[in-house]
Amino acid sequence: MSSDPPNPRPRRGLGETLAQAAGDAMEQRLLSQIQGGPIPRHLAIIMDGNRRFARGHGLLRVEGHLRGKEKLEELLNWCLEVGLRTLTVYALSTENLTRDTEEVHELMDLFTESFRKIADDPRVHRHRIRVRALGSRERLPARVQEAIRYAEERTRDHDQYFYNVAIAYGGREDILQAIRAIAREVEQGRVKPEAIDEAMVSNHLYTQDLPDPDLIFRTSGEERISNFLLWQSAYAELYFCDVLWPGLRKLDFLRAIHDYQRRQRRYGA
Ligand code: IPE
Ligand code: IPE
Ligand code: MG
Repeated sequence: MSSDPPNPRPRRGLGETLAQAAGDAMEQRLLSQIQGGPIPRHLAIIMDGNRRFARGHGLLRVEGHLRGKEKLEELLNWCLEVGLRTLTVYALSTENLTRDTEEVHELMDLFTESFRKIADDPRVHRHRIRVRALGSRERLPARVQEAIRYAEERTRDHDQYFYNVAIAYGGREDILQAIRAIAREVEQGRVKPEAIDEAMVSNHLYTQDLPDPDLIFRTSGEERISNFLLWQSAYAELYFCDVLWPGLRKLDFLRAIHDYQRRQRRYGA
């Protein structure tokens, strides 16, 4: 038998310990600064870079997606800590559904697990977080739809925080399905074309009762919207960060909020 002590702790060099302490202090300072300023009512995140992260770390593609899922679980704590009430994350676009079948299958397994896990997460019930999926869910396999139903059902009466997962979501598709629904109402004589206004369109989008996003945050260094919340982002502030999603640190997240707080929003005035 080996004489090694059980669970030996990895030794840390002095440099590493100091760097960690300095990082923690920076995080703490930023956090208290942020808490004194306006927190976005609605933060939307494009969680990009899972596969590049996997490649860069010698991991399988699916492990990159898994790390991405774990990062999202961690992000929820950060949002609660700063008091962010509405969070929408882009988990899968309508275009992502055309990736190779094996990858789509891997992602669907992770989504199933993720919705089930969040529905049973004590944080969700302690903080009264309502979980919803936004997107054309009929395009998802039955097991994912079932897990979504479970999460939405278990959290339907929660009203303190709103956690939305955009899945099989496309901004253009969102607008299209709203147009179709309004056209049906016109056809049935319930709505006059002149009565169609911005509020009516907003109310027919997947985001319905949610405020428009104040801040859209994208990781991975790509600076584009990739068909996310097209109508809703009319006056959103945009923030791009080079870190790949699974590698996001709390400090990166806090910096995004801090940067947002320093901006002057003008809405064309
Ligand atoms: C984001 O990471 C997750 C999804 C789009 C499902 P990617 O899978 O796009 O990874 P990269 O951007 O190719 O590195
Ligand atoms: C956007 O990322 C979609 C999600 C993060 C879910 P993509 O990786 O699909 O976007 P492109 O292809 O770089 O524009
Ligand atoms: Mg990508």
